[in-house]
Amino acid sequence: MTKEMSYSRIGTVICEQDTPSVMLFSFVVETEESLISARRGEFVSVAAEEGVVIARISDLIRTNRYYQHAEAVREYQSRGEPLRSIFPTDRWQYTIAHAQVLGFWVDDKALRPYFAVSPGASVHRVDDDILSAFLHLDNQGPKLGILAHHELEFTPSIDRLLSKHLAILAMSGAGKSYFVSVLLEELLARTKENGRMAVVVVDVHGEYSYLKDIAPMDLGVDSDTFEIEYIRGSHFQVAVRSLSAEAIGSLVADMSSIQVRDLKRIISKMSAQMKHGFTLNDIIDYVRMDETISKNTREALVGWLINLEETGLFGKESIPDISKTIQPGKLTLIDLSDFISLRKKQIVVSHLVNELLFLRRRGEIPPFLLILEEAHQFCPESRHELALPKTRIETMAREGRKFHALLCLISQRPVKLSTTVLSQCSNQAILRTTNPYDLDHIGRSSEGIDKAALDAITTLEVGEALFVGEVVSVPAFVKIRKRKYEPKDTVQSLLDALRKADKKA
Ligand SMILES: Nc1ncnc2c1ncn2[C@@H]1O[C@H](COP(=O)(O)OP(=O)(O)O)[C@@H](O)[C@H]1O
Ligand SMILES: [Mg+2]
Repeated sequence: MTKEMSYSRIGTVICEQDTPSVMLFSFVVETEESLISARRGEFVSVAAEEGVVIARISDLIRTNRYYQHAEAVREYQSRGEPLRSIFPTDRWQYTIAHAQVLGFWVDDKALRPYFAVSPGASVHRVDDDILSAFLHLDNQGPKLGILAHHELEFTPSIDRLLSKHLAILAMSGAGKSYFVSVLLEELLARTKENGRMAVVVVDVHGEYSYLKDIAPMDLGVDSDTFEIEYIRGSHFQVAVRSLSAEAIGSLVADMSSIQVRDLKRIISKMSAQMKHGFTLNDIIDYVRMDETISKNTREALVGWLINLEETGLFGKESIPDISKTIQPGKLTLIDLSDFISLRKKQIVVSHLVNELLFLRRRGEIPPFLLILEEAHQFCPESRHELALPKTRIETMAREGRKFHALLCLISQRPVKLSTTVLSQCSNQAILRTTNPYDLDHIGRSSEGIDKAALDAITTLEVGEALFVGEVVSVPAFVKIRKRKYEPKDTVQSLLDALRKADKKA
């Protein structure tokens, strides 16, 4: 045995109840003084003739035969002589680790487990190269952080991470947006040769607006690596001529089919006459002038159109022009933090999702990633909530990945997120979540999560994530790395805010 091997040995397999079995084994942990040498969640390996068995420590149990008999312990206790003052109890303390087998590594390939490890076999830390290959990591992939309990950099392959939709779920303050910032840094830093992605962020709280100042230099890449376009919600505009009568109908509560038909006739007449586009006010004028529409329909249509016009979201031209804005290596930030009205946010998202999917289907824009914060507000599970973009997001979730129209949905209330959409997110990054309803929902919606992983989610620290799905072969805990580029004016503490306010007064 080499010196290195003996250093990395952390225990010896024992016979216990029904183990070692194909899926489970236990081992006595080698102790080095008070050092804890094995941790729950850590990957371990056992070398066998057929190949390497890769397992994960699911639990650790400490035991000591001096304390196995309650009566004896009580007896010495009542005499005021602790056991350890009489017997060498410390020497008899040891730790048993339970490990769950994840797979066999044979000839650089992962196989399903099909034999049990031998009692007496040595348990080692997994070699980093094997672990990296076993988890499908890719040294060209985005550097998202460090694998928990290991020194291994977590660099999933971009293909596995983003060729399917991604959901980022956790309670508020767990580090979802921070993780998105890290992901954005990695996507922006990609070179042409590696393949650059077009990214659109719908920034509901203005948390990402700091990125408008980021320069390629800040990320240590060439100056032509990426570009950023920042659009304020108040500048966002939907071209009225791009809207069908049905699309307008879907933006207002319940337009009847007769009303839609009348509107359709008017719009097609206007499209033929007004080649340079028109506004909602133009449509209102046409509706008012049209004698063939019944008075009731006319009044209803005018009312709805005025209501839409008042949002200030509609005009002659589209701003931005999605067909030109979406480019490889470009981040389009749409800052909706000025909007208080949820309906306005929903109109923007609804239009955006529709346009992106339409243009991508026709090959007019490159593959893109649409990042949507507060996803439960835009595609809720409940039918009672008004959600204009819901069906469109569901369509993108179902059909988008075939042509690389990809979604990254973020939510702090997974239980409120449409299950149709959530079940289409083949990759999930789950950060700290304690709400039992949310946990239950997460457990049911992702196949990869077992009870042990679900329990661990409640104990995660801020900035720690559990990755499940296509991206990794088995659920993996990751400490998300620090951002390279920090916002200049981070949220100040309450105390700082109070002091500042007092100074002004
Ligand atoms: N990976 C991380 N490294 C360091 N600090 C982090 C990390 N993730 C989160 N934080 C800290 O936690 C705070 C809250 O994170 P945030 O991403 O805003 O939470 P969420 O979006 O889930 O509500 C951040 O402002 C940051 O200070
Ligand atoms: Mg957030």
